[in-house]
Amino acid sequence: MTDKPDLVIEPLGKKHNRAAFSCGTDELDTYLQRQASQDTKRRIARIFVIRSAADDQTILGYYTLSALSIDLSSLPSDLVKKLPKHPLPAALIGRLAVSTKSQGVGLGKVLLADAIKRTLALSDEIAVYAMVVDALNTDAEAFYQGFGFSKLDTATNRLFLPLKSV
Ligand SMILES: CC(C)(COP(=O)(O)OP(=O)(O)OC[C@H]1O[C@@H](n2cnc3c(N)ncnc32)[C@H](O)[C@@H]1OP(=O)(O)O)[C@@H](O)C(=O)NCCC(=O)NCCS
Repeated sequence: MTDKPDLVIEPLGKKHNRAAFSCGTDELDTYLQRQASQDTKRRIARIFVIRSAADDQTILGYYTLSALSIDLSSLPSDLVKKLPKHPLPAALIGRLAVSTKSQGVGLGKVLLADAIKRTLALSDEIAVYAMVVDALNTDAEAFYQGFGFSKLDTATNRLFLPLKSV
């Protein structure tokens, strides 16, 4: 569930109409349609969808969440000085997308907040140092930077946000 009573966030399930989802980026649509269920079954990713409380089939947006370890060499040197010298536990938002018709009304923000909230709850049981996201393009990077994410290293499209700073 979300803080907004008219919206529901729940794990991707059979009732959801994956075929109708379109966010303007083919790779993200195809993932939901062809790969997401398999990744869930194999425990490679958890997929959460957002929908209107009044319509349990139409997917308005989704994100994927997986465990990850961050290599210290990919972190900025000022941070590394204060950290143990081994890979750090993290949570990865591998994909996040909002359907074209629903973009620009805050759903991306709601999804990102849900992923962080879920990870924070989990990190009381299994430590998680940071949230990591894979940004597909410069637009996506700008979206995440708006929430305080910074580049993990210059060679990849990964950004991170230490949970301590949330
Ligand atoms: C990028 C995307 C997830 C944003 O979702 P959204 O629901 O449209 O975004 P929101 O309405 O929640 O916007 C939240 C904030 O991010 C900002 N924002 C949204 N898209 C942005 C962009 N492309 N660049 C910079 N900032 C952006 C908004 O201005 C808003 O800021 P505010 O709170 O200060 O007003 C969505 O546009 C999308 O799915 N795009 C296609 C797929 C994609 O590129 N996914 C990226 C992840 S790989």
